[in-house]
Amino acid sequence: MNRTVPHAHSLHGEITVPGDKSISHRAVMIGAISEGVSEITGFLAAADPLSTIACFNSLGIAHKFEHEKLFIMGNGLNGLQQPSAMLDAGNSGTTIRLISGILAGQNFPTQISGDQYLVKRPMKRILDPLMQMGADISATEKFTAPLSIKPVQKLKAVEYKLPIASAQVKSAVLFAGLFAEGTTQVIENEPSRDHTERMLNLPSESKNGTTVISVMGGTSLKARPFTVPGDPSSAAFFIVAGLIVPQSSIKIMNVGLNPTRTGFIKILKKMGADISVENERIIGGEPLGDLVVRSSDLETNFILNGSIIPNVIDEIPILSIAAAFASGTFEVRDARDLRNKETDRIAAICTNLRRMGVTVDEYPDGFAFESKKDVLSSEFDSFDDHRIAMSFGIAGLGLAGESTIINSECVSISFPTFWETVHLLQR
Ligand code: S3P
Repeated sequence: MNRTVPHAHSLHGEITVPGDKSISHRAVMIGAISEGVSEITGFLAAADPLSTIACFNSLGIAHKFEHEKLFIMGNGLNGLQQPSAMLDAGNSGTTIRLISGILAGQNFPTQISGDQYLVKRPMKRILDPLMQMGADISATEKFTAPLSIKPVQKLKAVEYKLPIASAQVKSAVLFAGLFAEGTTQVIENEPSRDHTERMLNLPSESKNGTTVISVMGGTSLKARPFTVPGDPSSAAFFIVAGLIVPQSSIKIMNVGLNPTRTGFIKILKKMGADISVENERIIGGEPLGDLVVRSSDLETNFILNGSIIPNVIDEIPILSIAAAFASGTFEVRDARDLRNKETDRIAAICTNLRRMGVTVDEYPDGFAFESKKDVLSSEFDSFDDHRIAMSFGIAGLGLAGESTIINSECVSISFPTFWETVHLLQR
């Protein structure tokens, strides 16, 4: 479905954003292999986390939604059952990569695949460490899904130095470590989101920029309640909306502020953004707060590269919109992995920015452009990628005239109420 987005004169109001996608996936996974019933508050009932639930249903784990909470009926570390068919991770890279760590340690075979986009995404990054742990796991010739995972006697603990900064790879190894003989250690040189280690309460030691996270095989997990904060990556769209649409003031309640996720706020502040945090608190081991955003004159003139990239990887599309409405130049480098997301996000950002009239240079690992005053409304392709649809939907609010987002319904992957929230702020 295509959606027209008219220019917005101003945006006002108090909103919430749906629960954190990364934390929602992990809460289901950890709940499923814990003993007892895990109660999850604030779960993101969007297509991606629902794919995770569906996979665990096929593995014999029951769930129910009641009074706006999700309950996962955990069966303990060794309580999963052989599914009768291929597991379907849908569009969700987090589902297939993290669950593979769990499946590698089961005493029954499984197969897992996903939609037309997921089957193009690289899986070698998880196959390598899991095979080092002794997993019997095979993929297509191109190291993509479907994956076929066969039972092995016992996984062995490894010390795994992450060759790429990826929370998904780190988490796959940590989950597999729960089923291995001995203590598995994951070593990361560039920080990536740390929800898995926080939620599993794993010992983590940082020295000179290197972090070592340890997990002991066979650790039994007890069900516990999880509270999922609002997703900062979803809040980012409305933060930028509030900044670029003149005379706006938006308050976004209960946003997760885990430092491995909030690099984009630092970047926006460096551009001159008026963003303040109120009521900072810690709930369920994760920091959160309410964000107040006011329209700001943004300036860029910097290169986004190096070790901050993993922290802001999901926000680069919306940061590039903020930059397109700023004055100055904006360059993103060291972000080659953006080409491996739900779509090739470097190509998608460049294509759509060009439709706005911006001259963009594209590189294998990023892009660069100089912002210009007279950017144009246009027809933007979502490339069926939720973050591209939402980023250019927000751009449409700041552009004169009417813009169109092609296949706008893909927002349901992470933010089903996105378009309603846009509408709410315009009243
Ligand atoms: C995620 C990690 C990131 C991110 C994705 C969710 C996670 O991927 O892009 O949206 O929940 O662990 P990588 O770890 O592969 O960079």
